[in-house]
Amino acid sequence: MPDRVFNIGVVGAGLVAQTAHLTAVRKSRAAELYAICDVAGDLLRRVADIHRPARTFADYDAMLDDENVDAVIVAVADEFHAPLSVKALEAGKHVLVEKPMATTVEDAQAMAEAARRNDRVILVGHEKRYDPGVAFARDFIRDEIGELIALKHWYADSTYRYSVTDTLQPIIESSTAALRPPGDPKGDRQRYYVLAHGSHLFDTARYLGGPIEAMRARLSTKAGTHCWFIEVAFADGCLGHLDLTVAVRMDWWEGFQVYGSEGSVLGKVFHPWYLRAAEVQAFSARQAQFRQPLGADADVFRLQVDDLVSAALTRSPLRGAAAEDGLACVRAMVALARSVDRGDWVALADVTGGQ
Ligand SMILES: NC(=O)c1ccc[n+]([C@@H]2O[C@H](COP(=O)([O-])OP(=O)(O)OC[C@H]3O[C@@H](n4cnc5c(N)ncnc54)[C@H](O)[C@@H]3O)[C@@H](O)[C@H]2O)c1
Repeated sequence: MPDRVFNIGVVGAGLVAQTAHLTAVRKSRAAELYAICDVAGDLLRRVADIHRPARTFADYDAMLDDENVDAVIVAVADEFHAPLSVKALEAGKHVLVEKPMATTVEDAQAMAEAARRNDRVILVGHEKRYDPGVAFARDFIRDEIGELIALKHWYADSTYRYSVTDTLQPIIESSTAALRPPGDPKGDRQRYYVLAHGSHLFDTARYLGGPIEAMRARLSTKAGTHCWFIEVAFADGCLGHLDLTVAVRMDWWEGFQVYGSEGSVLGKVFHPWYLRAAEVQAFSARQAQFRQPLGADADVFRLQVDDLVSAALTRSPLRGAAAEDGLACVRAMVALARSVDRGDWVALADVTGGQ
């Protein structure tokens, strides 16, 4: 890690900041938690009492005016990702924006363009890429599995998720003054589940299987469950089957299975709040052996901060999701909605707008 203090300002002091980012920045040896910004003054005070940043801001523009801020973590509602990220990039800050990168293809493109224009790093918070089990599977696929034949990836939220997350999260401070998008964007459950969970599903599928060209999806809403089965065409001809289900009547169920000409790999992924490496087994046909990584450091949100700092200071490529990956996930989410509506294949390159 570079030997220099790298100051981070976090905008949004809500759930994900309190559960993941503030602790991650403080744990990183590469970064300093310099500032927290939230329009909700009472929330800002309570969260700052816990995490002790050098400065607090109720006004985002004032935080961006502070030249000590090197990078901003954008931890606000999905609808605000694009305007707040573009502002930070225009102010010369590097950006780590929560997933999904944006809610429309055009917003994601504008963010990527702002990063290019201002020569700044934009990292999209698809933290599963830092899970050492998932990363091991990716390396095995790239280096040893041979020709990719097929990939299955499933992501099923649990009906018991709030019991689990309440157990794992710190006590979450909240405020009636918190700024949320107008209307009730989370009220449209189909759209919201795709933004919240589908973004993870598509990023991991792309991380393991490469670019996705097209998809055809079906949706069942039986018994209050949203279950998408998605047929995917990867660019290299690999067959894909993705399953997004919110929620199964059992524990969180996320994983993948990949078949190649020289081996196969199987993974079970845990809810991110556990900070527990995926259990992954890779079989190499050449060696007639199974291999299983330990994955001792699965502090994915801290590893994500380390990646941001390293890419910003040394201009090395990101380990995590770059702008084009975030944009590809936004395209995939829109393609999923279009495909369900039309009941047919949809090419990702053709989609515009949002869900
Ligand atoms: N990576 C993950 O696994 C994961 C998990 C949970 C949430 N998220 C993502 O994190 C993001 C935030 O979710 P959350 O549940 O923490 O939201 P939240 O609503 O709890 O918190 C957001 C905070 O941002 C503040 N805010 C909004 N606009 C602001 C502005 N212009 N200036 C200052 N403060 C502003 C609000 O007042 C609020 O306190 C979402 O995009 C969500 O999808 C990601």
